[in-house]
Order: sequence, then C-alpha cells, then structure tokens
Amino acid sequence: MQQQHKQSALFWRSPAMLLLFLASLLLFLQGAHTKIEADADGVVAAPVVDASTSNFNDKIKVFTVASEPTDGYRRYIRSSHVYDIEVTTLGMGEEWTGGDMKTAGGGVKINLLRKAIEPLKDAQDTLIMFTDSYDVIITARLEEILEKFKETGAKLLFSAEKFCWPDKSLANKYPEVEGKASRYLNSGAFIGYAPQVYALLEEPIEDTGDDQLYFTKVFLDETKRAKLGMKLDTQSRLFQSLHGAKNDVKLKVDLDSNQGTLQNIDFMTTPAIIHGNGLSKVDLNAYGNYLAKTFSGICTVCQEYILELNEKQLPVVTLAVIVPQAVPFFDLFLEGIEKIDYPKDHLNLYMYTSVPLHDELIEAYVKKHGKKYASAKFVLSTDLLDERSGRQLALDKAQQHHSDYLFVVDGEAHIDDKAVLRELLKLNKQFVAPLFNKYYELWSNFWGALSDGGYYARSHDYVDIVKRDLVGIFNVPHVTSIYLIKHSAFDAIKFEHKEFDPDMALCESLRNAGIFMFISNQRNLGHLVNVDNFNSSVVRPDFHTLLSNRYDWTKKYIHPDYANFLNESIPVPQPCPDVYWFHVVTEAFCDDLVAIMEGHGKWSDGSNSDKRLEGGYEAVPTRDIHMRQVGLDTLYLKFLNIFVRPLQERVFTGYYHNPVRSLMNFMVRYRPDEQPSLRPHHDSSTYTINIAMNNVGEDYEGGGCRFLRYNCSVTETKKGWMLMHPGRLTHFHEGLLVTKGTRYIMISFIDP
Ligand SMILES: *[C@@H]1O[C@H](CO)[C@@H](O)[C@H](O)[C@H]1NC(C)=O
Ligand SMILES: *[C@@H]1O[C@H](CO)[C@@H](O)[C@H](O)[C@H]1NC(C)=O
Ligand SMILES: *[C@@H]1O[C@H](CO)[C@@H](O)[C@H](O)[C@H]1NC(C)=O
Repeated sequence: MQQQHKQSALFWRSPAMLLLFLASLLLFLQGAHTKIEADADGVVAAPVVDASTSNFNDKIKVFTVASEPTDGYRRYIRSSHVYDIEVTTLGMGEEWTGGDMKTAGGGVKINLLRKAIEPLKDAQDTLIMFTDSYDVIITARLEEILEKFKETGAKLLFSAEKFCWPDKSLANKYPEVEGKASRYLNSGAFIGYAPQVYALLEEPIEDTGDDQLYFTKVFLDETKRAKLGMKLDTQSRLFQSLHGAKNDVKLKVDLDSNQGTLQNIDFMTTPAIIHGNGLSKVDLNAYGNYLAKTFSGICTVCQEYILELNEKQLPVVTLAVIVPQAVPFFDLFLEGIEKIDYPKDHLNLYMYTSVPLHDELIEAYVKKHGKKYASAKFVLSTDLLDERSGRQLALDKAQQHHSDYLFVVDGEAHIDDKAVLRELLKLNKQFVAPLFNKYYELWSNFWGALSDGGYYARSHDYVDIVKRDLVGIFNVPHVTSIYLIKHSAFDAIKFEHKEFDPDMALCESLRNAGIFMFISNQRNLGHLVNVDNFNSSVVRPDFHTLLSNRYDWTKKYIHPDYANFLNESIPVPQPCPDVYWFHVVTEAFCDDLVAIMEGHGKWSDGSNSDKRLEGGYEAVPTRDIHMRQVGLDTLYLKFLNIFVRPLQERVFTGYYHNPVRSLMNFMVRYRPDEQPSLRPHHDSSTYTINIAMNNVGEDYEGGGCRFLRYNCSVTETKKGWMLMHPGRLTHFHEGLLVTKGTRYIMISFIDP
C-alpha cells in the first residue's frame, strides 16, 4: 500500500489514482479489526470526480500531504470531489517524520512535494496548488481558482495570516499592509506555475524542519521574491486562514438550500480555500457544516458514507450505562436500555453508578438480563469509584473485549426508539451522537460552539438544530449523555484533566486528536430527563417531578388508557347516576403515593378537632393526610388541572373552571382497627374525585362508596380508577365498612 501511494504521486494522470483514494477511504471505513463489511456495496461514498467535466484538472495539479485518512482528510477529499478536483495525496500510510504539527515542523511536506512535482518542473503552463488537508476545505471549482489566481498577477501566491509564525522576530521584515489585510505568510496553501513552485523548493530541508519558516525566508528575500513573482494573498481572494480572523469572515447560509459560503467581509472576497490554521479548528468545523454543498435543501452529506449493517457480521459493542448523579425515572431509563434492538450476545454490558439510590435497580437489571449479554459487569456506589474512573473503566472494558464500538448512555438519556444503536452505526463515524434534548426546553446534549475557556457558547444554528428546524448531521465541539465511539478513536480519549470534568476532558481529547464529534438530529431517538432540583432523598422522588419532567411523569404515572376517556366516541362507565368512572393513573402512581403517605405517617386522629383546617373543626372526620403535609399540594393541583379537569368537562358539559381550585386533597385510610367506614355526608365541593389506591379482594375486604339517594353502591373499585360525582345535594354518600386489611383512597374536593 505504501509503495502504491508513493507511485500515485508520479502517476497522477492515471485514473488509478482516484481508485487509490477510494481504496484508502474504504480501508479507513473498514477499520483495522472491525467486523463490518464496508465493501463497495455497503458504503455510499462521496461524489466521485467526473474528469470529463473538468479539463482544468490538466491545468492545475493539486497536491496535499496526509499520513492518515483522518476525519479532516475525509472532509477535505469530499470537498475536492464536490468541486470536481483531482487531488494527489502524498505520504499517506507513511510514518510521519515531520515533527509535532502543533509547534513547528512540516519539512517533510516540502520534501514530498519536491519529489512529486519533479517531472513537471519545466511545464510552464501547468499550475501546482498545494494545500494542507486535515484543516482545509475547498469551496470552489478549479476554473474559479484559476481566475482568482490570475487576477492577482502573481506567479506564485501564498495564503496569508494575521500572525507571524514561527519566528515572530521576522514580523517587521514583512512589507506593510493596509487595514485589516493579513500580513504574514501561511504555508498551508499556495498556488503557482510549476517551474516557480519547483524553484521555490530548491533549498534542502530536514523532514522535521519548519516549512512555514522555510517559505517565509524565501519570501523575505526580496531578490528571490521578485524572481519567483511571489505574492501573499493578503486580502483573501483565494485563501482564507481563519486563526485570528473570526471577525473578518461571515458565513452566509442560503435560506432555501442551507448551502453556505464564507465571505471575507473586510474585502468582500469569497475565498476558495478555507484553512482552519492554528487555534481555529473549531471555527472551521462549524463553517464546514455548511460549506462544500453539505446541504442541497436536504442534508446531502447525510446520505454519504452510510454503512449497511451485515446481520451475519454485526460489530461488537460495549454498552456502557453511566450514572454518576441521581436521576429521575431510572426505571424507565432501564426499560429503554433493555429494548435496544441489537443482539445482546454482541453487546458487552458495563453499568456504573456512584449513587446509592440506583444501586438496587442496576444490580437487579444485571441479575435479570446479564446472562443474555456477551458479558455483564457493574460498579455500584459501594465500590467508591469516582466518575472519571468509572468512565475510564468503560473504555478499558471496550478495549479488553476488543469491541468495535463503545456506546455510552448516561442515566439522564432516555432511549425512546429501540433502533438507536443501529441508526448510529449506520452513520459510520468515529464519534457520533443522536440529538437528545429535554422536552419543552432548549437544553440538549451538545454545544454548538466553545467559549475561549473551552466552556459552552451558543452557535448561530444551535436553536435550529435543537428544534429540528434544520435537519442534518453536524460537526460540533462538545457532546455528552449518549454517543457511539469507534475503536479507532479509543486511544485518543483522555478523561484525566486538571480543570475539566470528565465529559469536557473527553471532548477536548477528541478535538485535539482531530476526531470529529458529529451530532445527528435526523431521527428523534430519545430525550433527556431534567435532573434540575431532583431531590433524591425524599420518599419516591420521581413522583415529585411532575413540574420538571412532565413527559416522563406522564409516562410513568398516567395510565395508557387515559386518552380513551377523552375520546367522545368511547362511552364512560357510569356505575351510579351521575357517578363517572375513569382509569386515570398507573399502579406506580398509587404505590408511590401510598408509600409517600405512609413514609410521612402522621395520620389524623379521626376526631372532630382538626388544626389543619380553617376553624379547626371537621364535621365528618376521616383518618387522613393532606397533600400539603407532604409538600405535594402544588403538584397535585397541577395534576388535577392537566388530567382531571378535561374529564370533568367531558362528562359534566358546560361547566368550565380553569384552573381547578381545590383546598382539600388528601389520602384516607380505612381499616377495621382504626376507622373502618364513614357516615353519610355531603362534600364541600362542586364535584369530588375519589381515586382507588389499592385493590379490593387483594389488599382489603369490604369498603366502597354508597350513594343514598339512588341506593347505589360502587364496591368493585379498581386500583388507579377514579370516581367523579357532584359534591352536594344529589350525591349524599357514605364510606362502606372495611372488614379486613387496609383501604386507601385519594380524595379531592374540587371547586369548593
Ligand atoms: C430534599 O429532601 C429532604 C427530605 O425531605 C429535605 O430535608 C431537603 O431539604 C431537601 N433538599 C432540597 C434541596 O430541597
Ligand atoms: C376514538 O375512538 C374511536 C373508536 O375506538 C377510534 O376509532 C378513534 O380513532 C379514536 N379517536 C382518537 C382521537 O383516538
Ligand atoms: C337498596 O339496595 C339493596 C341492594 O341492592 C337492597 O337490598 C335494598 O332493599 C335497597 N333498599 C331500598 C330502600 O331500596
């Protein structure tokens, strides 16, 4: 392979060159030890150059140097294809000898290029364009590039930037420039006639020498500069270096096509080669989401590189459930994990929590389902492992098991679509996440931009992406909560950091390694629960979160049949005249609320004296606890207004009272040794609701409610079902005798 790549530089005329690119891309897609079949059938690659449409490929020879097909390289090659440009890649697959690119180095680029263009050194009509690739995007066809080059009158044109680097002391030696022009040479992109470019490369340089310094010295030598016809593109006609130029450029995104162009607004130019030099990689990534026709109305880049999964050779995935903080609705979370559509024998399960609240469910999950997985391991709060180590261990496990992927799901990320893992695998990235956000909020699992300190900053497209007004796949600087990482990225990951939490450390390490973090909002695969103000030390904490987690609260506590009772074409049961019966809440609602009340334990004594009431007197006392006593009055009023009021409006037509008012919301406890029944009475309400909290025949015997006027009793009450009846005048009623066990009912006097 290495040999062929070297040759490809020399045999650029051959169509085999293109095939080599594709082959290297495919190799990359296949990965070193993945079991995915990423053959030509499986992978839809980026558009391929049709050389017949662009004879400019004979006029301008484009070269780049890359030792690995990184995400940045893929993006670069894609952009070259989009604009029908053939690129010769030098150095692919060879060991990099050019030093650390972050500080200095890059002499190897010069040595590779010199060798590659040697056969062209006398071709006076041929142009050579060289660009870096990992941090470069091409945004124009060669015709346009040629035109722009000719306008400059240069024989050799270099990109320019705002900083003098690597030798600052040379800054004064540069010719002055006006206004916001870029004064200093940048070696990341240049174009010139072949003889001039060859002459430029005349002097020898060590592979580890600095290419930018090398070119700078040529440029600052006025004789050489004149002889080569060498100029800097100080006004970004052709080349835009982004470092230090944030305020010089503006991304224009067409509202219909979502295609972007990057303009230099100081000089009103539209550069063709965009270079994320220095510290501007994150900016380039953000622009790159729109440049080079990633959209054409729809997201075109979403259709590229898609992987078809081969059912016979599915990748092995380590599924890591990470719960470093107390989260509501962890039971629902685990249901989402269990139903992931993927053979469990291809999943290595790793579950981590540092929260005592979640130990029990994790242990129970592994006990019940662990055997179905290829392997299963859990870490509980009692193991005293901190979050950083917990996440690191997930990665270690993935490596030990030779997993092709690590799929991380944090406790707040609820999977709603069991296809989630397959959908992410298909996207075929080194790192990809589905967009998850909190219901009714813009809070999500990604950041569109970074502040200078590396923290959150909002991007221009953040809201559109979260709201799915813009659908696609986006390269972003920070992702949390749920993501899929390919094995090729494992070695780059670091959780250790002096300042950052483990999530931020992970993202920084990926950014530093040039591994793109993609977020896709193409399909709604799940959501985040809201952990704000979640108090895990109360009894049944989930029950307390209706106001902060309405979606999950409804899922857990409102019965699936509830909606049927709002459907006008389905009759509502009426066991007695004007007494309606609805299935409203789940068993979990009843069990949690009883547990909360029994946890509180301060049942009233059943006497007429009641300090909780205005006036302190109760004519028909029960043994009860008010919602106010357990801090749930506000929540319960919300529940009544959201779920009960619409039922009332259906059966008692014409009565509207929004919001509902209710001063008395309380649970009553009947038992033979305490208070077993209640004498006939009216309620101080317009209507009363009465929800059965447990089951007759199982939890108690006897009981029920009798309406005296109609001599009609409801004794077969059912857990989670609610009776609704007028409070006064017609519905004089009594609580029937409980003969055994304990009966709980939840009462509200609505609109007193
Ligand atoms: C959480 O609940 C406990 C127990 O009811 C209470 O003592 C504590 O103040 C609550 N914490 C917060 C932050 O509300
Ligand atoms: C109401 O119920 C009818 C009969 O079951 C059903 O056909 C219809 O789809 C339901 N309407 C809604 C909005 O669910
Ligand atoms: C009330 O109903 C019960 C049982 O349905 C019946 O035995 C009783 O005679 C009725 N009483 C009156 C006053 O109608």
